[in-house]
Amino acid sequence: EKGVYPYYMLKEIDEQPNVMRKLSKKYLDENGTPVIDEKLLDVMKNSDRIYIVGAGTSYHAGLVGKKQLETLTGIPTEVHVASEFAYEKPIFSKKPFFLFLSQSGETADSRQVLVNVNKDHYPSLTITNVANSTLSRESDFTLLLDAGPEISVASTKAYTAQIALEAILAKALGEHLGDQRAQDFDLKAQLSLVAQGMQTIVDEKDKIDEISQDYFVNATQAFYIGRGIDYTVSLEAALKLKEISYVHSEGFASGELKHGTIALIEDGTPVIGIITQGFTAGLTRSNLMETAARGAKTLTIVRKSLAQDDDTFVIPDVDELLTPLLSVIPAQLLAYYTSLNKGLNVDLPRNLAKSVTVE
Ligand code: M6R
Repeated sequence: EKGVYPYYMLKEIDEQPNVMRKLSKKYLDENGTPVIDEKLLDVMKNSDRIYIVGAGTSYHAGLVGKKQLETLTGIPTEVHVASEFAYEKPIFSKKPFFLFLSQSGETADSRQVLVNVNKDHYPSLTITNVANSTLSRESDFTLLLDAGPEISVASTKAYTAQIALEAILAKALGEHLGDQRAQDFDLKAQLSLVAQGMQTIVDEKDKIDEISQDYFVNATQAFYIGRGIDYTVSLEAALKLKEISYVHSEGFASGELKHGTIALIEDGTPVIGIITQGFTAGLTRSNLMETAARGAKTLTIVRKSLAQDDDTFVIPDVDELLTPLLSVIPAQLLAYYTSLNKGLNVDLPRNLAKSVTVE
């Protein structure tokens, strides 16, 4: 039930701090040690490459998971769009392991990949929000998000839950492999900081509503830019905006602007820079300035330790592997308010269904 909320999407955005706390409680014990099936970790430990498969927002969560898994386990990880993977099979390593990400567990594109994986008898894990869903039943292992039902077509809490659970899995596997960074990673403390940080951002709703009215409601196009993990969040941020507010938006690697995209910048085009990684912050800031010089209205989502006076959204500091959990929140809210302020049906955007069960 959406209770006092006008739309499920806002309710689901607001639920995210609690989802973080629940995941931490379920999958990390009092000492912060991951509670993950040893059999799963043994199988993953024996693989020489992890293939993550997902669609839409789940694919974007996979892009963050790649960074977490590679950093904490050293196992090379690839991320694939399910509908491409099914018919353009990449070359497999000798011992591949498949990780399916799907809120619903019913996405036909992902299922098609799993059918082929099972034919070849390769091991697989599904991370999903729905127990007994098709992907869960048909893969060897399942980890549940326990985020509660996600009703709004635009996925929000499933994205952050997937990223938090991927971090837990990466830490568990890293520890299993004896990785020092994984052992030192205090994920329990970090997820508690993330939950608090999410709360402070959702409490700033009114500011985001204003920015939406000032710069987005009448915009015909908007861009998110970033580098590395921030680039992956810019893809998700742009998907949210296009899917529910119908503002044509794209996420770009900020270094790519000058290779073409900057030609699209017009007077007043909103460009939002996501800046959470110290070693690329300066570069993305100069790319933003280049767009401002061509008339763009530039905005920023920046972590506190990198913030400057005129930044738009300052998000609390958390470990660099977890910043997407916070940097995505202003973008979710911006999409929500832009849709709302345009008088659209936020939860049921045109032409889309919650669960895509055809290829
Ligand atoms: O249920 P799934 O996670 O497999 O769904 C995948 C996509 O269809 C889904 O994330 C879609 O992109 C959302 N509408 C995005 O908000």
